[in-house]
Amino acid sequence: MVDETSIFIGASRKPDDSYQRAEELLLRYGNRHGLVTGATGTGKTVSLQVLAEGFSNAGVPVFCADIKGDLSGISMMGEAKDFLVKRAEQVKLDPYQFQEFPVIFWDLFGEQGHPIRATISEMGPLLLSRLMNLTEAQEGVMNIAFRIADEEGLLLLDLKDLQALLANIAERADELSARYGNVTKPSVGAIQRTLLVLESQGAANFFGEPALRIADIMRTTRDGRGAISVLAADKLMMNPRLYATFLLWLMSELFEELPEVGDLDRPKLVFFFDEAHLLFEDAPKVLIDRVEQVVRLIRSKGVGVYFVTQNPLDIPEKVLAQLGNRVQHALRAYTPREQQAVRTAAETFRPNPDFDCATAITQLATGEALVSMLEDKGVPAMVQRTLIRPPSSRLGPITPEERRKIIAESPVAGQYDETVDRESAFEMLQKKAKEAQDAEAQAQQQNRGGSRWTIPGFDDVLGTGNRRSSNRQTVAEAAIKSVVRSVGSSVGRAIVRGILGSLARGR
Ligand SMILES: Nc1ncnc2c1ncn2[C@@H]1O[C@H](COP(=O)(O)OP(=O)(O)OP(=O)(O)O)[C@@H](O)[C@H]1O
Ligand SMILES: [Mg+2]
Repeated sequence: MVDETSIFIGASRKPDDSYQRAEELLLRYGNRHGLVTGATGTGKTVSLQVLAEGFSNAGVPVFCADIKGDLSGISMMGEAKDFLVKRAEQVKLDPYQFQEFPVIFWDLFGEQGHPIRATISEMGPLLLSRLMNLTEAQEGVMNIAFRIADEEGLLLLDLKDLQALLANIAERADELSARYGNVTKPSVGAIQRTLLVLESQGAANFFGEPALRIADIMRTTRDGRGAISVLAADKLMMNPRLYATFLLWLMSELFEELPEVGDLDRPKLVFFFDEAHLLFEDAPKVLIDRVEQVVRLIRSKGVGVYFVTQNPLDIPEKVLAQLGNRVQHALRAYTPREQQAVRTAAETFRPNPDFDCATAITQLATGEALVSMLEDKGVPAMVQRTLIRPPSSRLGPITPEERRKIIAESPVAGQYDETVDRESAFEMLQKKAKEAQDAEAQAQQQNRGGSRWTIPGFDDVLGTGNRRSSNRQTVAEAAIKSVVRSVGSSVGRAIVRGILGSLARGR
């Protein structure tokens, strides 16, 4: 294992612009989270790249989303371009060495990386409702659907399982309403239609098995470097809701699966959340509260979460307050609103008597930032004007051929590439329906055999119709019960969901 205790970020400068000192992120505070902000083109992605390189070299696995494809270069050796070499000299990075990093590419759509999947069950009703933008009434129905699946032993793995369950619920709406409260056909129908939309947006790929194993994003190489998982997010960004839901799910899975570790000398994983504003935009308060809770608690599991967004105001105050390591690139301040945002951003720093923070934020050059990292005892350091170091890996995107090669040689090659479709709610409900049908046919047979006298067209008058329908009920119920018995033991895992999924919506 590497014996470094910090990541070199760049060099701060004195008021006369001369070199002051090296600025570093202390690895032991790497789990105290962080924030990278700045207007477009000011250097956020490069700062993220520099941090990810540093964590990887220190043996810390990294998970990050690549919104524009320009982070993929981290998998390739950098080149001595003039402006990079110049920057290396300015920050006294000597020697300026080039390096390629161990990258695993992932893609929810399975095109630019290994497919990432989660089961419907793992996702849970809260996140699914958010993903589908359901109304409160519809979310209530979704909660009931999950309860029914748990009680009746129906495994919810993919979208077709959920569809089958909803169809079944619509059929039994009256019976279920009596048991669980309002389950109306229109609200079930509305959820079914939203599911179709979701499917047409390509989400069907995402739900199913084999689901992502957390261990696969926490790998290290034999030489002790942390693997960098890069999630292709260019296409994903077209569906911001799916993007946000997925990352929330991943965070809650990490939270659920990792043990408490307290304070370590370096994090076990760091997680970069690019375009973080998407998480919070139109998010209901309960979800923001959950995010705040997960961010607060995940720290003691050794996971650091770094939000990347244009403006610190994109992040709710309670979450912002927990982000200890900060890199603030330039912001524009043309409109009064922007000026307000600059002032607020400035106020979040521990002031430096050498300069006015708000003024500095508007004057920072590209690849320059106001930096404040946690120092001894976890206190934020005085803010410094800092030139960020150039990355060791390539700046900008890789070619499709380069990507294909890395995917083929990846340590998880072959593990996730094919979907597995084992028996779950869809198949079970189909079977159940068939059993009920068969049973009914049999009952009819018996009925016919039992009463020798029938008057064609006069069933109801004789009361046989009634008897038959009540008979059908009990047969169907018996069929359901037998299915429950046979699969009841296999769904233990289905009931366990991430913190974001398992907690029912506060009413
Ligand atoms: N630390 C740095 N050293 C050298 N050049 C840098 C550095 N940071 C940024 N640059 C230069 O600035 C360009 C833009 O930076 P970057 O892509 O990180 O901006 P961004 O804030 O992520 O923009 P966007 O919001 O559009 O994604 C880089 O391509 C690079 O040329
Ligand atoms: Mg960027």
